[in-house]
Order: sequence, then C-alpha cells, then structure tokens
Amino acid sequence: MSTESSPAQTRLSRAVITLDGPSGSGKSSTARGVARALGLRYLDTGAQFRAMTLWMLENGIDIHDPSAVAAQTHLVPLESGTDPARPTISLAGRRIAKEIRGQAVTQAVSPVSAVPEVRARLLQLQREIIGSGGIVVEGRDIGSVVWPQAELKLYLTADPSARAQRRTRQSGAVDLAKTEADLLRRDQHDSSRSSAPLVVPDGAVHLDTTDYTLEQVINQVVAMVDEALANP
Ligand code: DC
Repeated sequence: MSTESSPAQTRLSRAVITLDGPSGSGKSSTARGVARALGLRYLDTGAQFRAMTLWMLENGIDIHDPSAVAAQTHLVPLESGTDPARPTISLAGRRIAKEIRGQAVTQAVSPVSAVPEVRARLLQLQREIIGSGGIVVEGRDIGSVVWPQAELKLYLTADPSARAQRRTRQSGAVDLAKTEADLLRRDQHDSSRSSAPLVVPDGAVHLDTTDYTLEQVINQVVAMVDEALANP
C-alpha cells in the first residue's frame, strides 16, 4: 500500500480555516471540534486578547488609557499552545486558562482589544503561529485581516438568547439577562471599533448555529472543508 499522501491530504495539512463571529456563536467549540476531527492545530485568538488584558490588570495598567496599554504591549510574555485536545494559554509559563474567563477580564477585554498596538502585536504572533498552515483559527478578524487568503472562511452567528444560554453554561454565571446584556454590549464595542472591527469577511460562508447541535455544526464544517479542498 502506498504511504504517500493524496493531494487532498497535502492540501489539508497546509490549510487555514478561519471562524469569526460574536461571543456565544459556537465558534470555540466548533473550531476545536473541527481541528480534532481533521487532525489540525487550533488557535483561540480571543484567549490571546484576554491574556493581554489579564496582564494589564495584574500590572496595574489603566485599561481605559490607550497610550498606557500601548506602551506595555510588547512586554507581555504570552504563549499559545495549539493542540486542540489540550489548548493552552500562558503568561511567562504560568497557565491562565481559568483566570482569563473571569468577570474582571471579560469586562476589560473590549477596550484593550481596541488598542491598535495590541492588535499589531497579536497580529504578528497569530501569523507566526499560523505559519505554513494546518490550523483552524477562531476570532473576530481572522478571515478579514489576519489571514484573508484562508482556504475556508466561516462567519458564525446565533440568536442572542441562544448565545447567552451557551455562555451561561460555559462560565457558570447565573444571571441570564445580565449575560445577554454583557454579550450585546461587547458585540457593539467589537463591531464599532475603528481597528479591525468584527465584520463578515469577504468570501466567508455565513452559518447560523441557533437550531443546530454542536455535533451537527462540526459535521457541516468538516463537509465544507472537504469540499473546499477537493475543488481548490
Ligand atoms: O472570543 P472571546 O469572547 O474570548 O474574545 C474576547 C474578546 O477579544 C472579544 O470581546 C473581542 C476580542 N477579540 C478581538 O478583538 N479579535 C479577535 N480576533 C478575537 C477576540
């Protein structure tokens, strides 16, 4: 039996698949599930913006002062691990997956991620990690700014109430109405900032996940990847 890879397998090993969309649209679980199903790496860029924010808070930087945040950006010792079975995010080797999901970071992340120097530093890091491909990357500006040449670009949405319910389950928060209000406030902030706002990237497939289970969405995306790589 031949051990050579087929052209489609070779294309898959170099492919970049982007998933953008608002919080709670199912991006993270979908991106991770697709990466696992296809044997690709996985990058959660939201976790990187959250890690930057945690570092600013822990170091007493006023997150509402863009020049103070900008001046610190290059000092943040951030690392992302891309195994979809066990993705990691660290500051100087300290694992911070739990801390970055807390209320303090969630409330502070939008102003920090609107600072152009923060975006420039993370853009460079994200492009380095993507490198020669074989990765599923999720965020807000991946298909529009970070990697517009991706083999497949997706834009995920869901109804705000479905998104709030998912977030409540993920974070253990109890107040559904507050979670929905926080989520809509963050959408508004992320969509209206001048630097790399949340937009539907050119050429992206729009997928509304409201009425589907995670497994159904993962299967749909895997089928789209197969098709995109079979007919490049
Ligand atoms: O996906 P998330 O909720 O963990 O993202 C946290 C914040 O990071 C989100 O409010 C906006 C910002 N973000 C961004 O500006 N660009 C990205 N590519 C990913 C996240």
